[in-house]
Amino acid sequence: MSISIQEISSEKILALFLGNKLLMGVIDIYNTVSLSLIKPNTNIRQFGNSQRPIYSIEGNPRRFRTMASSTIPVDQVSKGKQQLTGDSFIRPHLRKLSPYQPILPFEVLSTKLGRKPEDIIKLDANENPYGPPPEVLEALGSLKFPYIYPDPESRQLRAALAEDSGLESKYILVGCGCDELIDLIMRCVLDPGDKIVDCPPTFTMYEFDAGVNAAEVIKVPRNSDFSLNVELIADVVEQEKPKCIFLTSPNNPDGSIISDEVLLKILDLPILVVLDEAYIEFSGIESKMKWVKKYDNLIVLRTFSKRAGLAGIRVGYGAFPLSIIEYLWRAKQPYNVSVAAEVAACSALQNATYLEEVKEALVKERDRLFKLLNEVPFLKPYPSYSNFILCEVTSGMDAKKLKDDLAQMGVMVRHYNKKELKGYIRVTAGKPEQTDILMECLKRLY
Ligand SMILES: Cc1ncc(COP(=O)(O)O)c(C=O)c1O
Repeated sequence: MSISIQEISSEKILALFLGNKLLMGVIDIYNTVSLSLIKPNTNIRQFGNSQRPIYSIEGNPRRFRTMASSTIPVDQVSKGKQQLTGDSFIRPHLRKLSPYQPILPFEVLSTKLGRKPEDIIKLDANENPYGPPPEVLEALGSLKFPYIYPDPESRQLRAALAEDSGLESKYILVGCGCDELIDLIMRCVLDPGDKIVDCPPTFTMYEFDAGVNAAEVIKVPRNSDFSLNVELIADVVEQEKPKCIFLTSPNNPDGSIISDEVLLKILDLPILVVLDEAYIEFSGIESKMKWVKKYDNLIVLRTFSKRAGLAGIRVGYGAFPLSIIEYLWRAKQPYNVSVAAEVAACSALQNATYLEEVKEALVKERDRLFKLLNEVPFLKPYPSYSNFILCEVTSGMDAKKLKDDLAQMGVMVRHYNKKELKGYIRVTAGKPEQTDILMECLKRLY
Protein backbone atom coordinates (compact mmCIF):
# COMPACT_ATOMS: atom_id res chain seq x y z
CA MET A 1 0.00 0.00 0.00
CA SER A 2 1.44 3.38 -0.78
CA ILE A 3 0.17 6.77 0.10
CA SER A 4 1.61 10.15 -0.76
CA ILE A 5 1.70 12.86 1.81
CA GLN A 6 1.81 16.46 0.72
CA GLU A 7 2.90 19.10 3.12
CA ILE A 8 0.63 22.09 2.61
CA SER A 9 1.59 24.90 4.89
CA SER A 10 3.05 23.84 8.20
CA GLU A 11 4.31 20.74 9.86
CA LYS A 12 0.85 20.39 11.38
CA ILE A 13 -1.16 20.27 8.21
CA LEU A 14 -0.78 17.61 5.63
CA ALA A 15 -2.78 16.45 2.68
CA LEU A 16 -2.81 12.73 2.16
CA PHE A 17 -3.14 11.37 -1.32
CA LEU A 18 -3.68 7.88 -2.54
CA GLY A 19 -2.47 8.15 -6.09
CA ASN A 20 -4.15 11.31 -7.23
CA LYS A 21 -7.14 10.96 -4.90
CA LEU A 22 -7.38 13.09 -1.80
CA LEU A 23 -7.96 10.85 1.18
CA MET A 24 -7.89 13.29 4.01
CA GLY A 25 -7.79 17.03 4.42
CA VAL A 26 -5.71 17.56 7.52
CA ILE A 27 -4.05 15.58 10.23
CA ASP A 28 -2.41 16.86 13.33
CA ILE A 29 1.04 15.41 13.38
CA TYR A 30 1.41 16.12 17.09
CA ASN A 31 -1.09 13.34 17.54
CA THR A 32 0.54 11.01 15.11
CA VAL A 33 3.37 9.73 17.24
CA SER A 34 3.19 6.29 15.73
CA LEU A 35 3.39 7.51 12.16
CA SER A 36 6.68 8.05 10.41
CA LEU A 37 7.36 9.15 6.90
CA ILE A 38 9.78 7.07 4.87
CA LYS A 39 11.68 8.49 1.94
CA PRO A 40 10.61 7.25 -1.47
CA ASN A 41 11.82 3.75 -2.19
CA THR A 42 11.61 1.51 -5.17
CA ASN A 43 9.12 -0.88 -3.56
CA ILE A 44 6.44 1.72 -3.54
CA ARG A 45 3.91 1.49 -6.29
CA GLN A 46 2.35 4.67 -7.47
CA PHE A 47 -1.33 4.88 -8.36
CA GLY A 48 -2.09 7.02 -11.39
CA ASN A 49 0.35 9.45 -12.92
CA SER A 50 0.85 11.76 -10.03
CA GLN A 51 4.15 13.59 -10.00
CA ARG A 52 3.86 14.18 -6.26
CA PRO A 53 6.59 12.82 -4.00
CA ILE A 54 5.68 9.38 -2.73
CA TYR A 55 6.10 8.37 0.92
CA SER A 56 5.01 5.31 2.74
CA ILE A 57 3.55 5.36 6.17
CA GLU A 58 5.08 3.17 8.77
CA GLY A 59 3.73 2.57 12.19
CA ASN A 60 0.69 1.21 13.89
CA PRO A 61 -1.84 0.65 11.11
CA ARG A 62 -4.74 0.62 13.54
CA ARG A 63 -3.71 4.00 14.83
CA PHE A 64 -3.60 5.24 11.29
CA ARG A 65 -7.09 3.93 10.71
CA THR A 66 -8.52 5.72 13.70
CA MET A 67 -6.91 9.02 12.82
CA ALA A 68 -7.46 9.39 9.15
CA SER A 69 -10.60 11.22 8.17
CA SER A 70 -11.34 10.27 4.64
CA THR A 71 -13.69 11.55 2.01
CA ILE A 72 -13.81 8.13 0.36
CA PRO A 73 -13.26 4.73 1.96
CA VAL A 74 -9.90 3.36 0.92
CA ASP A 75 -11.34 0.00 -0.07
CA GLN A 76 -13.28 1.71 -2.84
CA VAL A 77 -9.98 2.87 -4.27
CA SER A 78 -7.83 -0.13 -3.64
CA LYS A 79 -9.97 -3.18 -3.00
CA GLY A 80 -8.76 -5.48 -0.26
CA LYS A 81 -5.48 -3.71 0.40
CA GLN A 82 -6.27 -1.18 3.09
CA GLN A 83 -9.59 -0.82 4.80
CA LEU A 84 -10.77 2.13 6.80
CA THR A 85 -12.97 1.18 9.69
CA GLY A 86 -16.26 3.01 10.15
CA ASP A 87 -14.99 4.89 13.18
CA SER A 88 -12.47 6.67 10.98
CA PHE A 89 -15.38 8.76 9.69
CA ILE A 90 -16.40 9.86 13.18
CA ARG A 91 -15.32 13.28 14.45
CA PRO A 92 -12.22 12.83 16.64
CA HIS A 93 -13.70 14.35 19.81
CA LEU A 94 -16.65 11.96 19.63
CA ARG A 95 -14.35 8.96 19.43
CA LYS A 96 -13.18 9.86 22.93
CA LEU A 97 -16.68 10.47 24.31
CA SER A 98 -17.90 8.15 27.06
CA PRO A 99 -21.50 7.07 26.44
CA TYR A 100 -24.21 8.50 28.69
CA GLN A 101 -25.25 5.98 31.34
CA PRO A 102 -29.03 5.84 31.16
CA ILE A 103 -31.16 3.84 33.58
CA LEU A 104 -32.47 0.52 32.22
CA PRO A 105 -35.78 0.63 30.30
CA PHE A 106 -38.69 -0.80 32.26
CA GLU A 107 -39.13 -3.91 30.09
CA VAL A 108 -35.41 -4.70 30.12
CA LEU A 109 -35.35 -4.26 33.87
CA SER A 110 -38.38 -6.49 34.21
CA THR A 111 -36.67 -9.32 32.30
CA LYS A 112 -33.43 -8.83 34.22
CA LEU A 113 -35.14 -9.00 37.60
CA GLY A 114 -37.63 -11.66 36.55
CA ARG A 115 -40.53 -9.50 37.78
CA LYS A 116 -43.49 -7.95 36.02
CA PRO A 117 -43.00 -4.18 35.46
CA GLU A 118 -45.94 -3.46 37.77
CA ASP A 119 -44.19 -5.40 40.56
CA ILE A 120 -41.08 -3.24 40.39
CA ILE A 121 -40.85 -0.27 42.75
CA LYS A 122 -39.10 2.19 40.52
CA LEU A 123 -37.53 4.92 42.61
CA ASP A 124 -34.37 5.46 40.54
CA ALA A 125 -35.19 8.11 37.90
CA ASN A 126 -37.34 10.75 39.62
CA GLU A 127 -40.33 9.78 37.54
CA ASN A 128 -43.82 10.71 38.65
CA PRO A 129 -45.59 7.43 39.50
CA TYR A 130 -49.06 9.00 39.25
CA GLY A 131 -48.61 9.62 35.54
CA PRO A 132 -50.47 12.31 33.63
CA PRO A 133 -54.10 13.42 34.13
CA PRO A 134 -56.58 10.89 32.64
CA GLU A 135 -57.49 13.33 29.82
CA VAL A 136 -54.01 12.88 28.38
CA LEU A 137 -54.51 9.20 27.61
CA GLU A 138 -57.94 9.93 26.12
CA ALA A 139 -56.47 12.66 23.92
CA LEU A 140 -53.63 10.38 22.82
CA GLY A 141 -56.15 7.67 21.97
CA SER A 142 -58.06 9.98 19.65
CA LEU A 143 -55.32 11.90 17.84
CA LYS A 144 -56.91 13.50 14.79
CA PHE A 145 -53.95 14.00 12.48
CA PRO A 146 -51.08 11.72 13.44
CA TYR A 147 -50.21 11.39 9.75
CA ILE A 148 -49.59 15.15 9.39
CA TYR A 149 -46.31 16.74 10.53
CA PRO A 150 -46.59 18.67 13.77
CA ASP A 151 -46.60 22.45 14.12
CA PRO A 152 -42.89 23.42 14.09
CA GLU A 153 -43.75 26.32 16.40
CA SER A 154 -45.87 24.26 18.85
CA ARG A 155 -48.26 27.24 18.89
CA GLN A 156 -51.05 25.65 20.96
CA LEU A 157 -48.70 24.39 23.59
CA ARG A 158 -46.77 27.65 23.81
CA ALA A 159 -50.02 29.55 24.25
CA ALA A 160 -51.03 27.16 27.04
CA LEU A 161 -47.59 27.54 28.64
CA ALA A 162 -47.86 31.32 28.45
CA GLU A 163 -51.08 31.11 30.41
CA ASP A 164 -49.57 28.64 32.85
CA SER A 165 -46.39 30.64 33.49
CA GLY A 166 -47.52 34.24 33.01
CA LEU A 167 -44.75 34.76 30.44
CA GLU A 168 -45.71 35.62 26.85
CA SER A 169 -45.31 32.81 24.33
CA LYS A 170 -42.72 34.71 22.26
CA TYR A 171 -40.21 33.98 25.04
CA ILE A 172 -41.02 30.25 25.08
CA LEU A 173 -39.64 27.44 22.97
CA VAL A 174 -40.60 23.77 23.34
CA GLY A 175 -38.37 20.74 22.89
CA CYS A 176 -38.23 16.98 22.93
CA GLY A 177 -37.61 16.99 26.66
CA CYS A 178 -35.44 19.45 28.50
CA ASP A 179 -32.55 17.28 27.32
CA GLU A 180 -33.01 18.40 23.73
CA LEU A 181 -32.97 22.04 24.78
CA ILE A 182 -29.71 21.61 26.69
CA ASP A 183 -28.08 20.27 23.54
CA LEU A 184 -29.73 22.91 21.34
CA ILE A 185 -28.46 25.72 23.55
CA MET A 186 -24.94 24.30 23.37
CA ARG A 187 -25.14 23.93 19.60
CA CYS A 188 -26.14 27.59 19.30
CA VAL A 189 -23.67 28.98 21.82
CA LEU A 190 -20.50 26.90 21.77
CA ASP A 191 -17.74 26.65 19.24
CA PRO A 192 -15.47 23.61 19.61
CA GLY A 193 -13.01 24.37 22.40
CA ASP A 194 -15.31 26.88 24.13
CA LYS A 195 -15.72 26.37 27.86
CA ILE A 196 -18.72 25.75 30.09
CA VAL A 197 -18.89 25.77 33.88
CA ASP A 198 -20.42 22.72 35.53
CA CYS A 199 -20.98 22.47 39.30
CA PRO A 200 -20.89 18.80 40.30
CA PRO A 201 -22.46 16.84 41.73
CA THR A 202 -25.30 17.76 39.41
CA PHE A 203 -27.26 16.51 36.42
CA THR A 204 -24.67 14.77 34.26
CA MET A 205 -26.31 15.70 30.96
CA TYR A 206 -24.54 19.09 30.90
CA GLU A 207 -21.13 17.44 30.91
CA PHE A 208 -22.25 14.83 28.41
CA ASP A 209 -23.68 17.37 25.94
CA ALA A 210 -20.61 19.55 26.31
CA GLY A 211 -18.58 16.52 25.21
CA VAL A 212 -20.85 15.98 22.21
CA ASN A 213 -20.39 19.62 21.26
CA ALA A 214 -16.57 19.52 21.66
CA ALA A 215 -16.66 22.01 24.52
CA GLU A 216 -14.34 22.00 27.49
CA VAL A 217 -15.94 21.48 30.91
CA ILE A 218 -14.59 23.48 33.84
CA LYS A 219 -15.80 21.90 37.05
CA VAL A 220 -16.43 24.05 40.08
CA PRO A 221 -17.43 21.46 42.70
CA ARG A 222 -20.16 22.33 45.16
CA ASN A 223 -19.42 22.88 48.84
CA SER A 224 -19.91 19.94 51.22
CA ASP A 225 -23.52 21.05 51.87
CA PHE A 226 -24.06 21.06 48.07
CA SER A 227 -24.31 24.85 47.91
CA LEU A 228 -22.57 26.63 45.02
CA ASN A 229 -19.03 27.93 45.47
CA VAL A 230 -19.87 31.40 44.14
CA GLU A 231 -16.42 32.92 44.76
CA LEU A 232 -14.72 30.17 42.79
CA ILE A 233 -17.31 30.47 40.00
CA ALA A 234 -16.53 34.22 39.77
CA ASP A 235 -12.76 33.51 39.65
CA VAL A 236 -13.18 30.90 36.95
CA VAL A 237 -15.37 33.22 34.87
CA GLU A 238 -12.76 35.93 35.11
CA GLN A 239 -9.78 33.73 34.34
CA GLU A 240 -11.11 31.14 31.91
CA LYS A 241 -13.78 33.19 30.12
CA PRO A 242 -16.27 30.32 29.83
CA LYS A 243 -19.32 30.99 27.66
CA CYS A 244 -22.03 29.54 29.87
CA ILE A 245 -22.78 27.99 33.23
CA PHE A 246 -25.39 25.35 34.01
CA LEU A 247 -27.19 25.76 37.33
CA THR A 248 -29.87 23.45 38.66
CA SER A 249 -32.50 24.45 41.17
CA PRO A 250 -33.54 22.22 42.83
CA ASN A 251 -30.30 20.41 42.13
CA ASN A 252 -30.26 16.79 41.07
CA PRO A 253 -29.09 14.71 43.00
CA ASP A 254 -29.33 16.47 46.39
CA GLY A 255 -32.46 18.62 46.05
CA SER A 256 -30.93 21.90 47.25
CA ILE A 257 -32.10 25.20 45.78
CA ILE A 258 -30.26 28.34 44.68
CA SER A 259 -31.20 31.50 46.55
CA ASP A 260 -32.11 34.67 44.64
CA GLU A 261 -29.07 36.35 46.15
CA VAL A 262 -26.68 33.74 44.73
CA LEU A 263 -28.44 33.65 41.37
CA LEU A 264 -28.22 37.44 41.08
CA LYS A 265 -24.48 37.34 41.86
CA ILE A 266 -23.93 34.82 39.08
CA LEU A 267 -26.18 36.72 36.66
CA ASP A 268 -23.96 39.71 37.26
CA LEU A 269 -21.00 37.87 35.73
CA PRO A 270 -20.26 38.03 31.98
CA ILE A 271 -21.62 34.55 31.31
CA LEU A 272 -24.79 32.95 29.96
CA VAL A 273 -26.66 31.31 32.85
CA VAL A 274 -28.78 28.27 32.04
CA LEU A 275 -31.02 27.66 35.03
CA ASP A 276 -32.52 24.17 34.95
CA GLU A 277 -35.79 24.12 36.88
CA ALA A 278 -36.86 20.56 36.01
CA TYR A 279 -38.05 20.04 39.61
CA ILE A 280 -39.16 23.58 40.52
CA GLU A 281 -42.80 22.59 41.17
CA PHE A 282 -41.79 20.51 44.20
CA SER A 283 -39.82 23.37 45.78
CA GLY A 284 -42.61 25.76 46.67
CA ILE A 285 -40.52 28.48 44.99
CA GLU A 286 -41.73 30.45 42.02
CA SER A 287 -40.07 29.75 38.69
CA LYS A 288 -37.65 32.34 37.36
CA MET A 289 -39.09 32.11 33.84
CA LYS A 290 -40.22 35.75 33.88
CA TRP A 291 -36.69 36.91 34.73
CA VAL A 292 -35.63 36.32 31.11
CA LYS A 293 -37.34 39.60 30.25
CA LYS A 294 -34.91 41.43 32.50
CA TYR A 295 -31.71 39.40 32.18
CA ASP A 296 -30.35 38.97 28.69
CA ASN A 297 -27.93 36.30 29.94
CA LEU A 298 -30.55 34.01 31.54
CA ILE A 299 -32.26 30.92 30.13
CA VAL A 300 -34.73 28.93 32.26
CA LEU A 301 -35.54 25.30 31.44
CA ARG A 302 -38.55 23.27 32.62
CA THR A 303 -40.14 19.95 31.79
CA PHE A 304 -43.39 17.96 31.72
CA SER A 305 -41.50 14.82 32.74
CA LYS A 306 -41.78 15.37 36.49
CA ARG A 307 -44.70 17.69 37.20
CA ALA A 308 -47.05 16.11 34.62
CA GLY A 309 -45.85 12.49 34.64
CA LEU A 310 -44.94 12.62 30.94
CA ALA A 311 -41.28 11.50 30.99
CA GLY A 312 -41.99 8.89 28.31
CA ILE A 313 -43.65 11.37 25.96
CA ARG A 314 -40.69 13.80 26.00
CA VAL A 315 -41.75 17.42 26.36
CA GLY A 316 -39.59 20.15 27.83
CA TYR A 317 -39.70 23.91 27.46
CA GLY A 318 -37.55 26.91 28.02
CA ALA A 319 -37.85 30.65 28.58
CA PHE A 320 -35.30 32.68 26.63
CA PRO A 321 -34.44 36.36 26.17
CA LEU A 322 -35.70 37.54 22.77
CA SER A 323 -32.14 38.27 21.68
CA ILE A 324 -31.31 34.57 22.08
CA ILE A 325 -34.52 32.74 21.18
CA GLU A 326 -34.48 33.72 17.51
CA TYR A 327 -31.28 31.73 16.98
CA LEU A 328 -32.73 28.65 18.66
CA TRP A 329 -35.68 28.86 16.29
CA ARG A 330 -33.27 28.88 13.38
CA ALA A 331 -31.17 25.97 14.63
CA LYS A 332 -33.78 23.62 16.06
CA GLN A 333 -35.11 20.59 14.20
CA PRO A 334 -38.39 21.79 12.65
CA TYR A 335 -40.51 18.88 13.92
CA ASN A 336 -38.84 18.34 17.29
CA VAL A 337 -42.13 18.19 19.23
CA SER A 338 -44.41 15.43 17.95
CA VAL A 339 -48.16 15.73 17.49
CA ALA A 340 -48.59 13.28 20.38
CA ALA A 341 -46.26 15.27 22.63
CA GLU A 342 -48.03 18.57 21.98
CA VAL A 343 -51.49 17.07 22.47
CA ALA A 344 -50.42 15.31 25.67
CA ALA A 345 -48.82 18.41 27.18
CA CYS A 346 -51.80 20.65 26.29
CA SER A 347 -54.25 18.17 27.85
CA ALA A 348 -52.11 17.92 30.98
CA LEU A 349 -52.13 21.71 31.42
CA GLN A 350 -55.92 21.72 31.11
CA ASN A 351 -56.22 19.76 34.34
CA ALA A 352 -54.39 22.09 36.69
CA THR A 353 -56.22 20.62 39.70
CA TYR A 354 -54.83 17.15 39.00
CA LEU A 355 -51.29 18.51 38.56
CA GLU A 356 -51.57 20.40 41.84
CA GLU A 357 -52.94 17.39 43.75
CA VAL A 358 -50.24 15.07 42.45
CA LYS A 359 -47.54 17.59 43.31
CA GLU A 360 -48.91 17.93 46.84
CA ALA A 361 -49.08 14.16 47.26
CA LEU A 362 -45.44 13.81 46.17
CA VAL A 363 -44.22 16.63 48.41
CA LYS A 364 -46.06 15.08 51.36
CA GLU A 365 -44.56 11.70 50.55
CA ARG A 366 -41.08 13.18 50.20
CA ASP A 367 -41.34 14.60 53.73
CA ARG A 368 -42.60 11.28 55.12
CA LEU A 369 -39.84 9.43 53.24
CA PHE A 370 -37.23 11.76 54.72
CA LYS A 371 -38.36 11.01 58.27
CA LEU A 372 -38.39 7.26 57.63
CA LEU A 373 -34.98 7.22 55.93
CA ASN A 374 -33.59 9.23 58.81
CA GLU A 375 -34.49 6.34 61.14
CA VAL A 376 -32.45 3.84 59.11
CA PRO A 377 -29.16 3.35 61.01
CA PHE A 378 -26.98 3.28 57.90
CA LEU A 379 -28.52 6.20 56.00
CA LYS A 380 -28.08 9.94 56.32
CA PRO A 381 -30.72 11.68 54.16
CA TYR A 382 -30.30 15.27 52.97
CA PRO A 383 -33.25 17.66 53.17
CA SER A 384 -34.67 18.10 49.68
CA TYR A 385 -36.84 20.62 47.82
CA SER A 386 -37.50 18.11 45.07
CA ASN A 387 -39.21 14.75 44.48
CA PHE A 388 -36.14 12.74 45.55
CA ILE A 389 -33.84 12.39 48.53
CA LEU A 390 -30.10 11.87 48.47
CA CYS A 391 -28.77 9.64 51.26
CA GLU A 392 -25.22 9.11 52.38
CA VAL A 393 -24.70 5.42 53.09
CA THR A 394 -22.89 5.19 56.44
CA SER A 395 -21.81 2.64 59.08
CA GLY A 396 -19.49 0.78 56.73
CA MET A 397 -22.35 -0.24 54.44
CA ASP A 398 -21.47 -0.29 50.73
CA ALA A 399 -23.80 1.95 48.68
CA LYS A 400 -23.50 -0.06 45.47
CA LYS A 401 -24.23 -3.31 47.30
CA LEU A 402 -27.20 -1.68 49.00
CA LYS A 403 -28.56 -0.63 45.61
CA ASP A 404 -28.02 -4.17 44.24
CA ASP A 405 -29.62 -5.84 47.28
CA LEU A 406 -32.68 -3.61 46.96
CA ALA A 407 -32.89 -4.34 43.22
CA GLN A 408 -32.95 -8.07 44.00
CA MET A 409 -36.01 -7.37 46.14
CA GLY A 410 -37.61 -5.44 43.27
CA VAL A 411 -36.87 -1.93 44.56
CA MET A 412 -34.81 0.31 42.30
CA VAL A 413 -32.86 3.25 43.73
CA ARG A 414 -30.11 5.26 42.06
CA HIS A 415 -26.44 4.73 42.71
CA TYR A 416 -23.65 6.63 40.96
CA ASN A 417 -20.30 5.50 39.62
CA LYS A 418 -18.88 9.00 40.02
CA LYS A 419 -16.15 9.28 42.62
CA GLU A 420 -17.78 12.05 44.65
CA LEU A 421 -21.10 10.14 44.94
CA LYS A 422 -19.91 6.55 45.31
CA GLY A 423 -21.08 6.40 48.93
CA TYR A 424 -24.58 7.72 48.22
CA ILE A 425 -27.93 6.53 46.93
CA ARG A 426 -30.79 8.69 45.65
CA VAL A 427 -34.38 7.66 46.30
CA THR A 428 -37.35 9.10 44.38
CA ALA A 429 -40.46 9.98 46.35
CA GLY A 430 -43.22 7.70 45.07
CA LYS A 431 -46.65 6.63 46.24
CA PRO A 432 -47.11 5.86 49.98
CA GLU A 433 -47.34 2.11 49.30
CA GLN A 434 -44.03 2.25 47.42
CA THR A 435 -42.36 3.96 50.39
CA ASP A 436 -43.76 1.23 52.66
CA ILE A 437 -42.27 -1.55 50.52
CA LEU A 438 -38.91 0.26 50.36
CA MET A 439 -38.86 0.56 54.14
CA GLU A 440 -39.71 -3.14 54.62
CA CYS A 441 -36.87 -4.09 52.28
CA LEU A 442 -34.42 -1.79 54.07
CA LYS A 443 -35.44 -3.36 57.40
CA ARG A 444 -34.49 -6.79 56.07
CA LEU A 445 -30.95 -5.44 55.74
CA TYR A 446 -30.48 -4.51 59.40
C1 LIG B 1 -32.01 18.45 36.43
C2 LIG B 1 -32.65 17.78 35.27
N1 LIG B 1 -32.86 18.47 34.14
C3 LIG B 1 -33.43 17.91 33.07
C4 LIG B 1 -33.82 16.59 33.09
C5 LIG B 1 -34.39 15.98 31.86
O1 LIG B 1 -35.65 16.46 31.57
P1 LIG B 1 -36.46 15.88 30.34
O2 LIG B 1 -37.08 14.60 30.76
O3 LIG B 1 -37.45 16.94 30.04
O4 LIG B 1 -35.48 15.71 29.22
C6 LIG B 1 -33.64 15.82 34.24
C7 LIG B 1 -34.04 14.41 34.25
O5 LIG B 1 -33.92 13.68 35.16
C8 LIG B 1 -33.02 16.43 35.34
O6 LIG B 1 -32.77 15.74 36.46
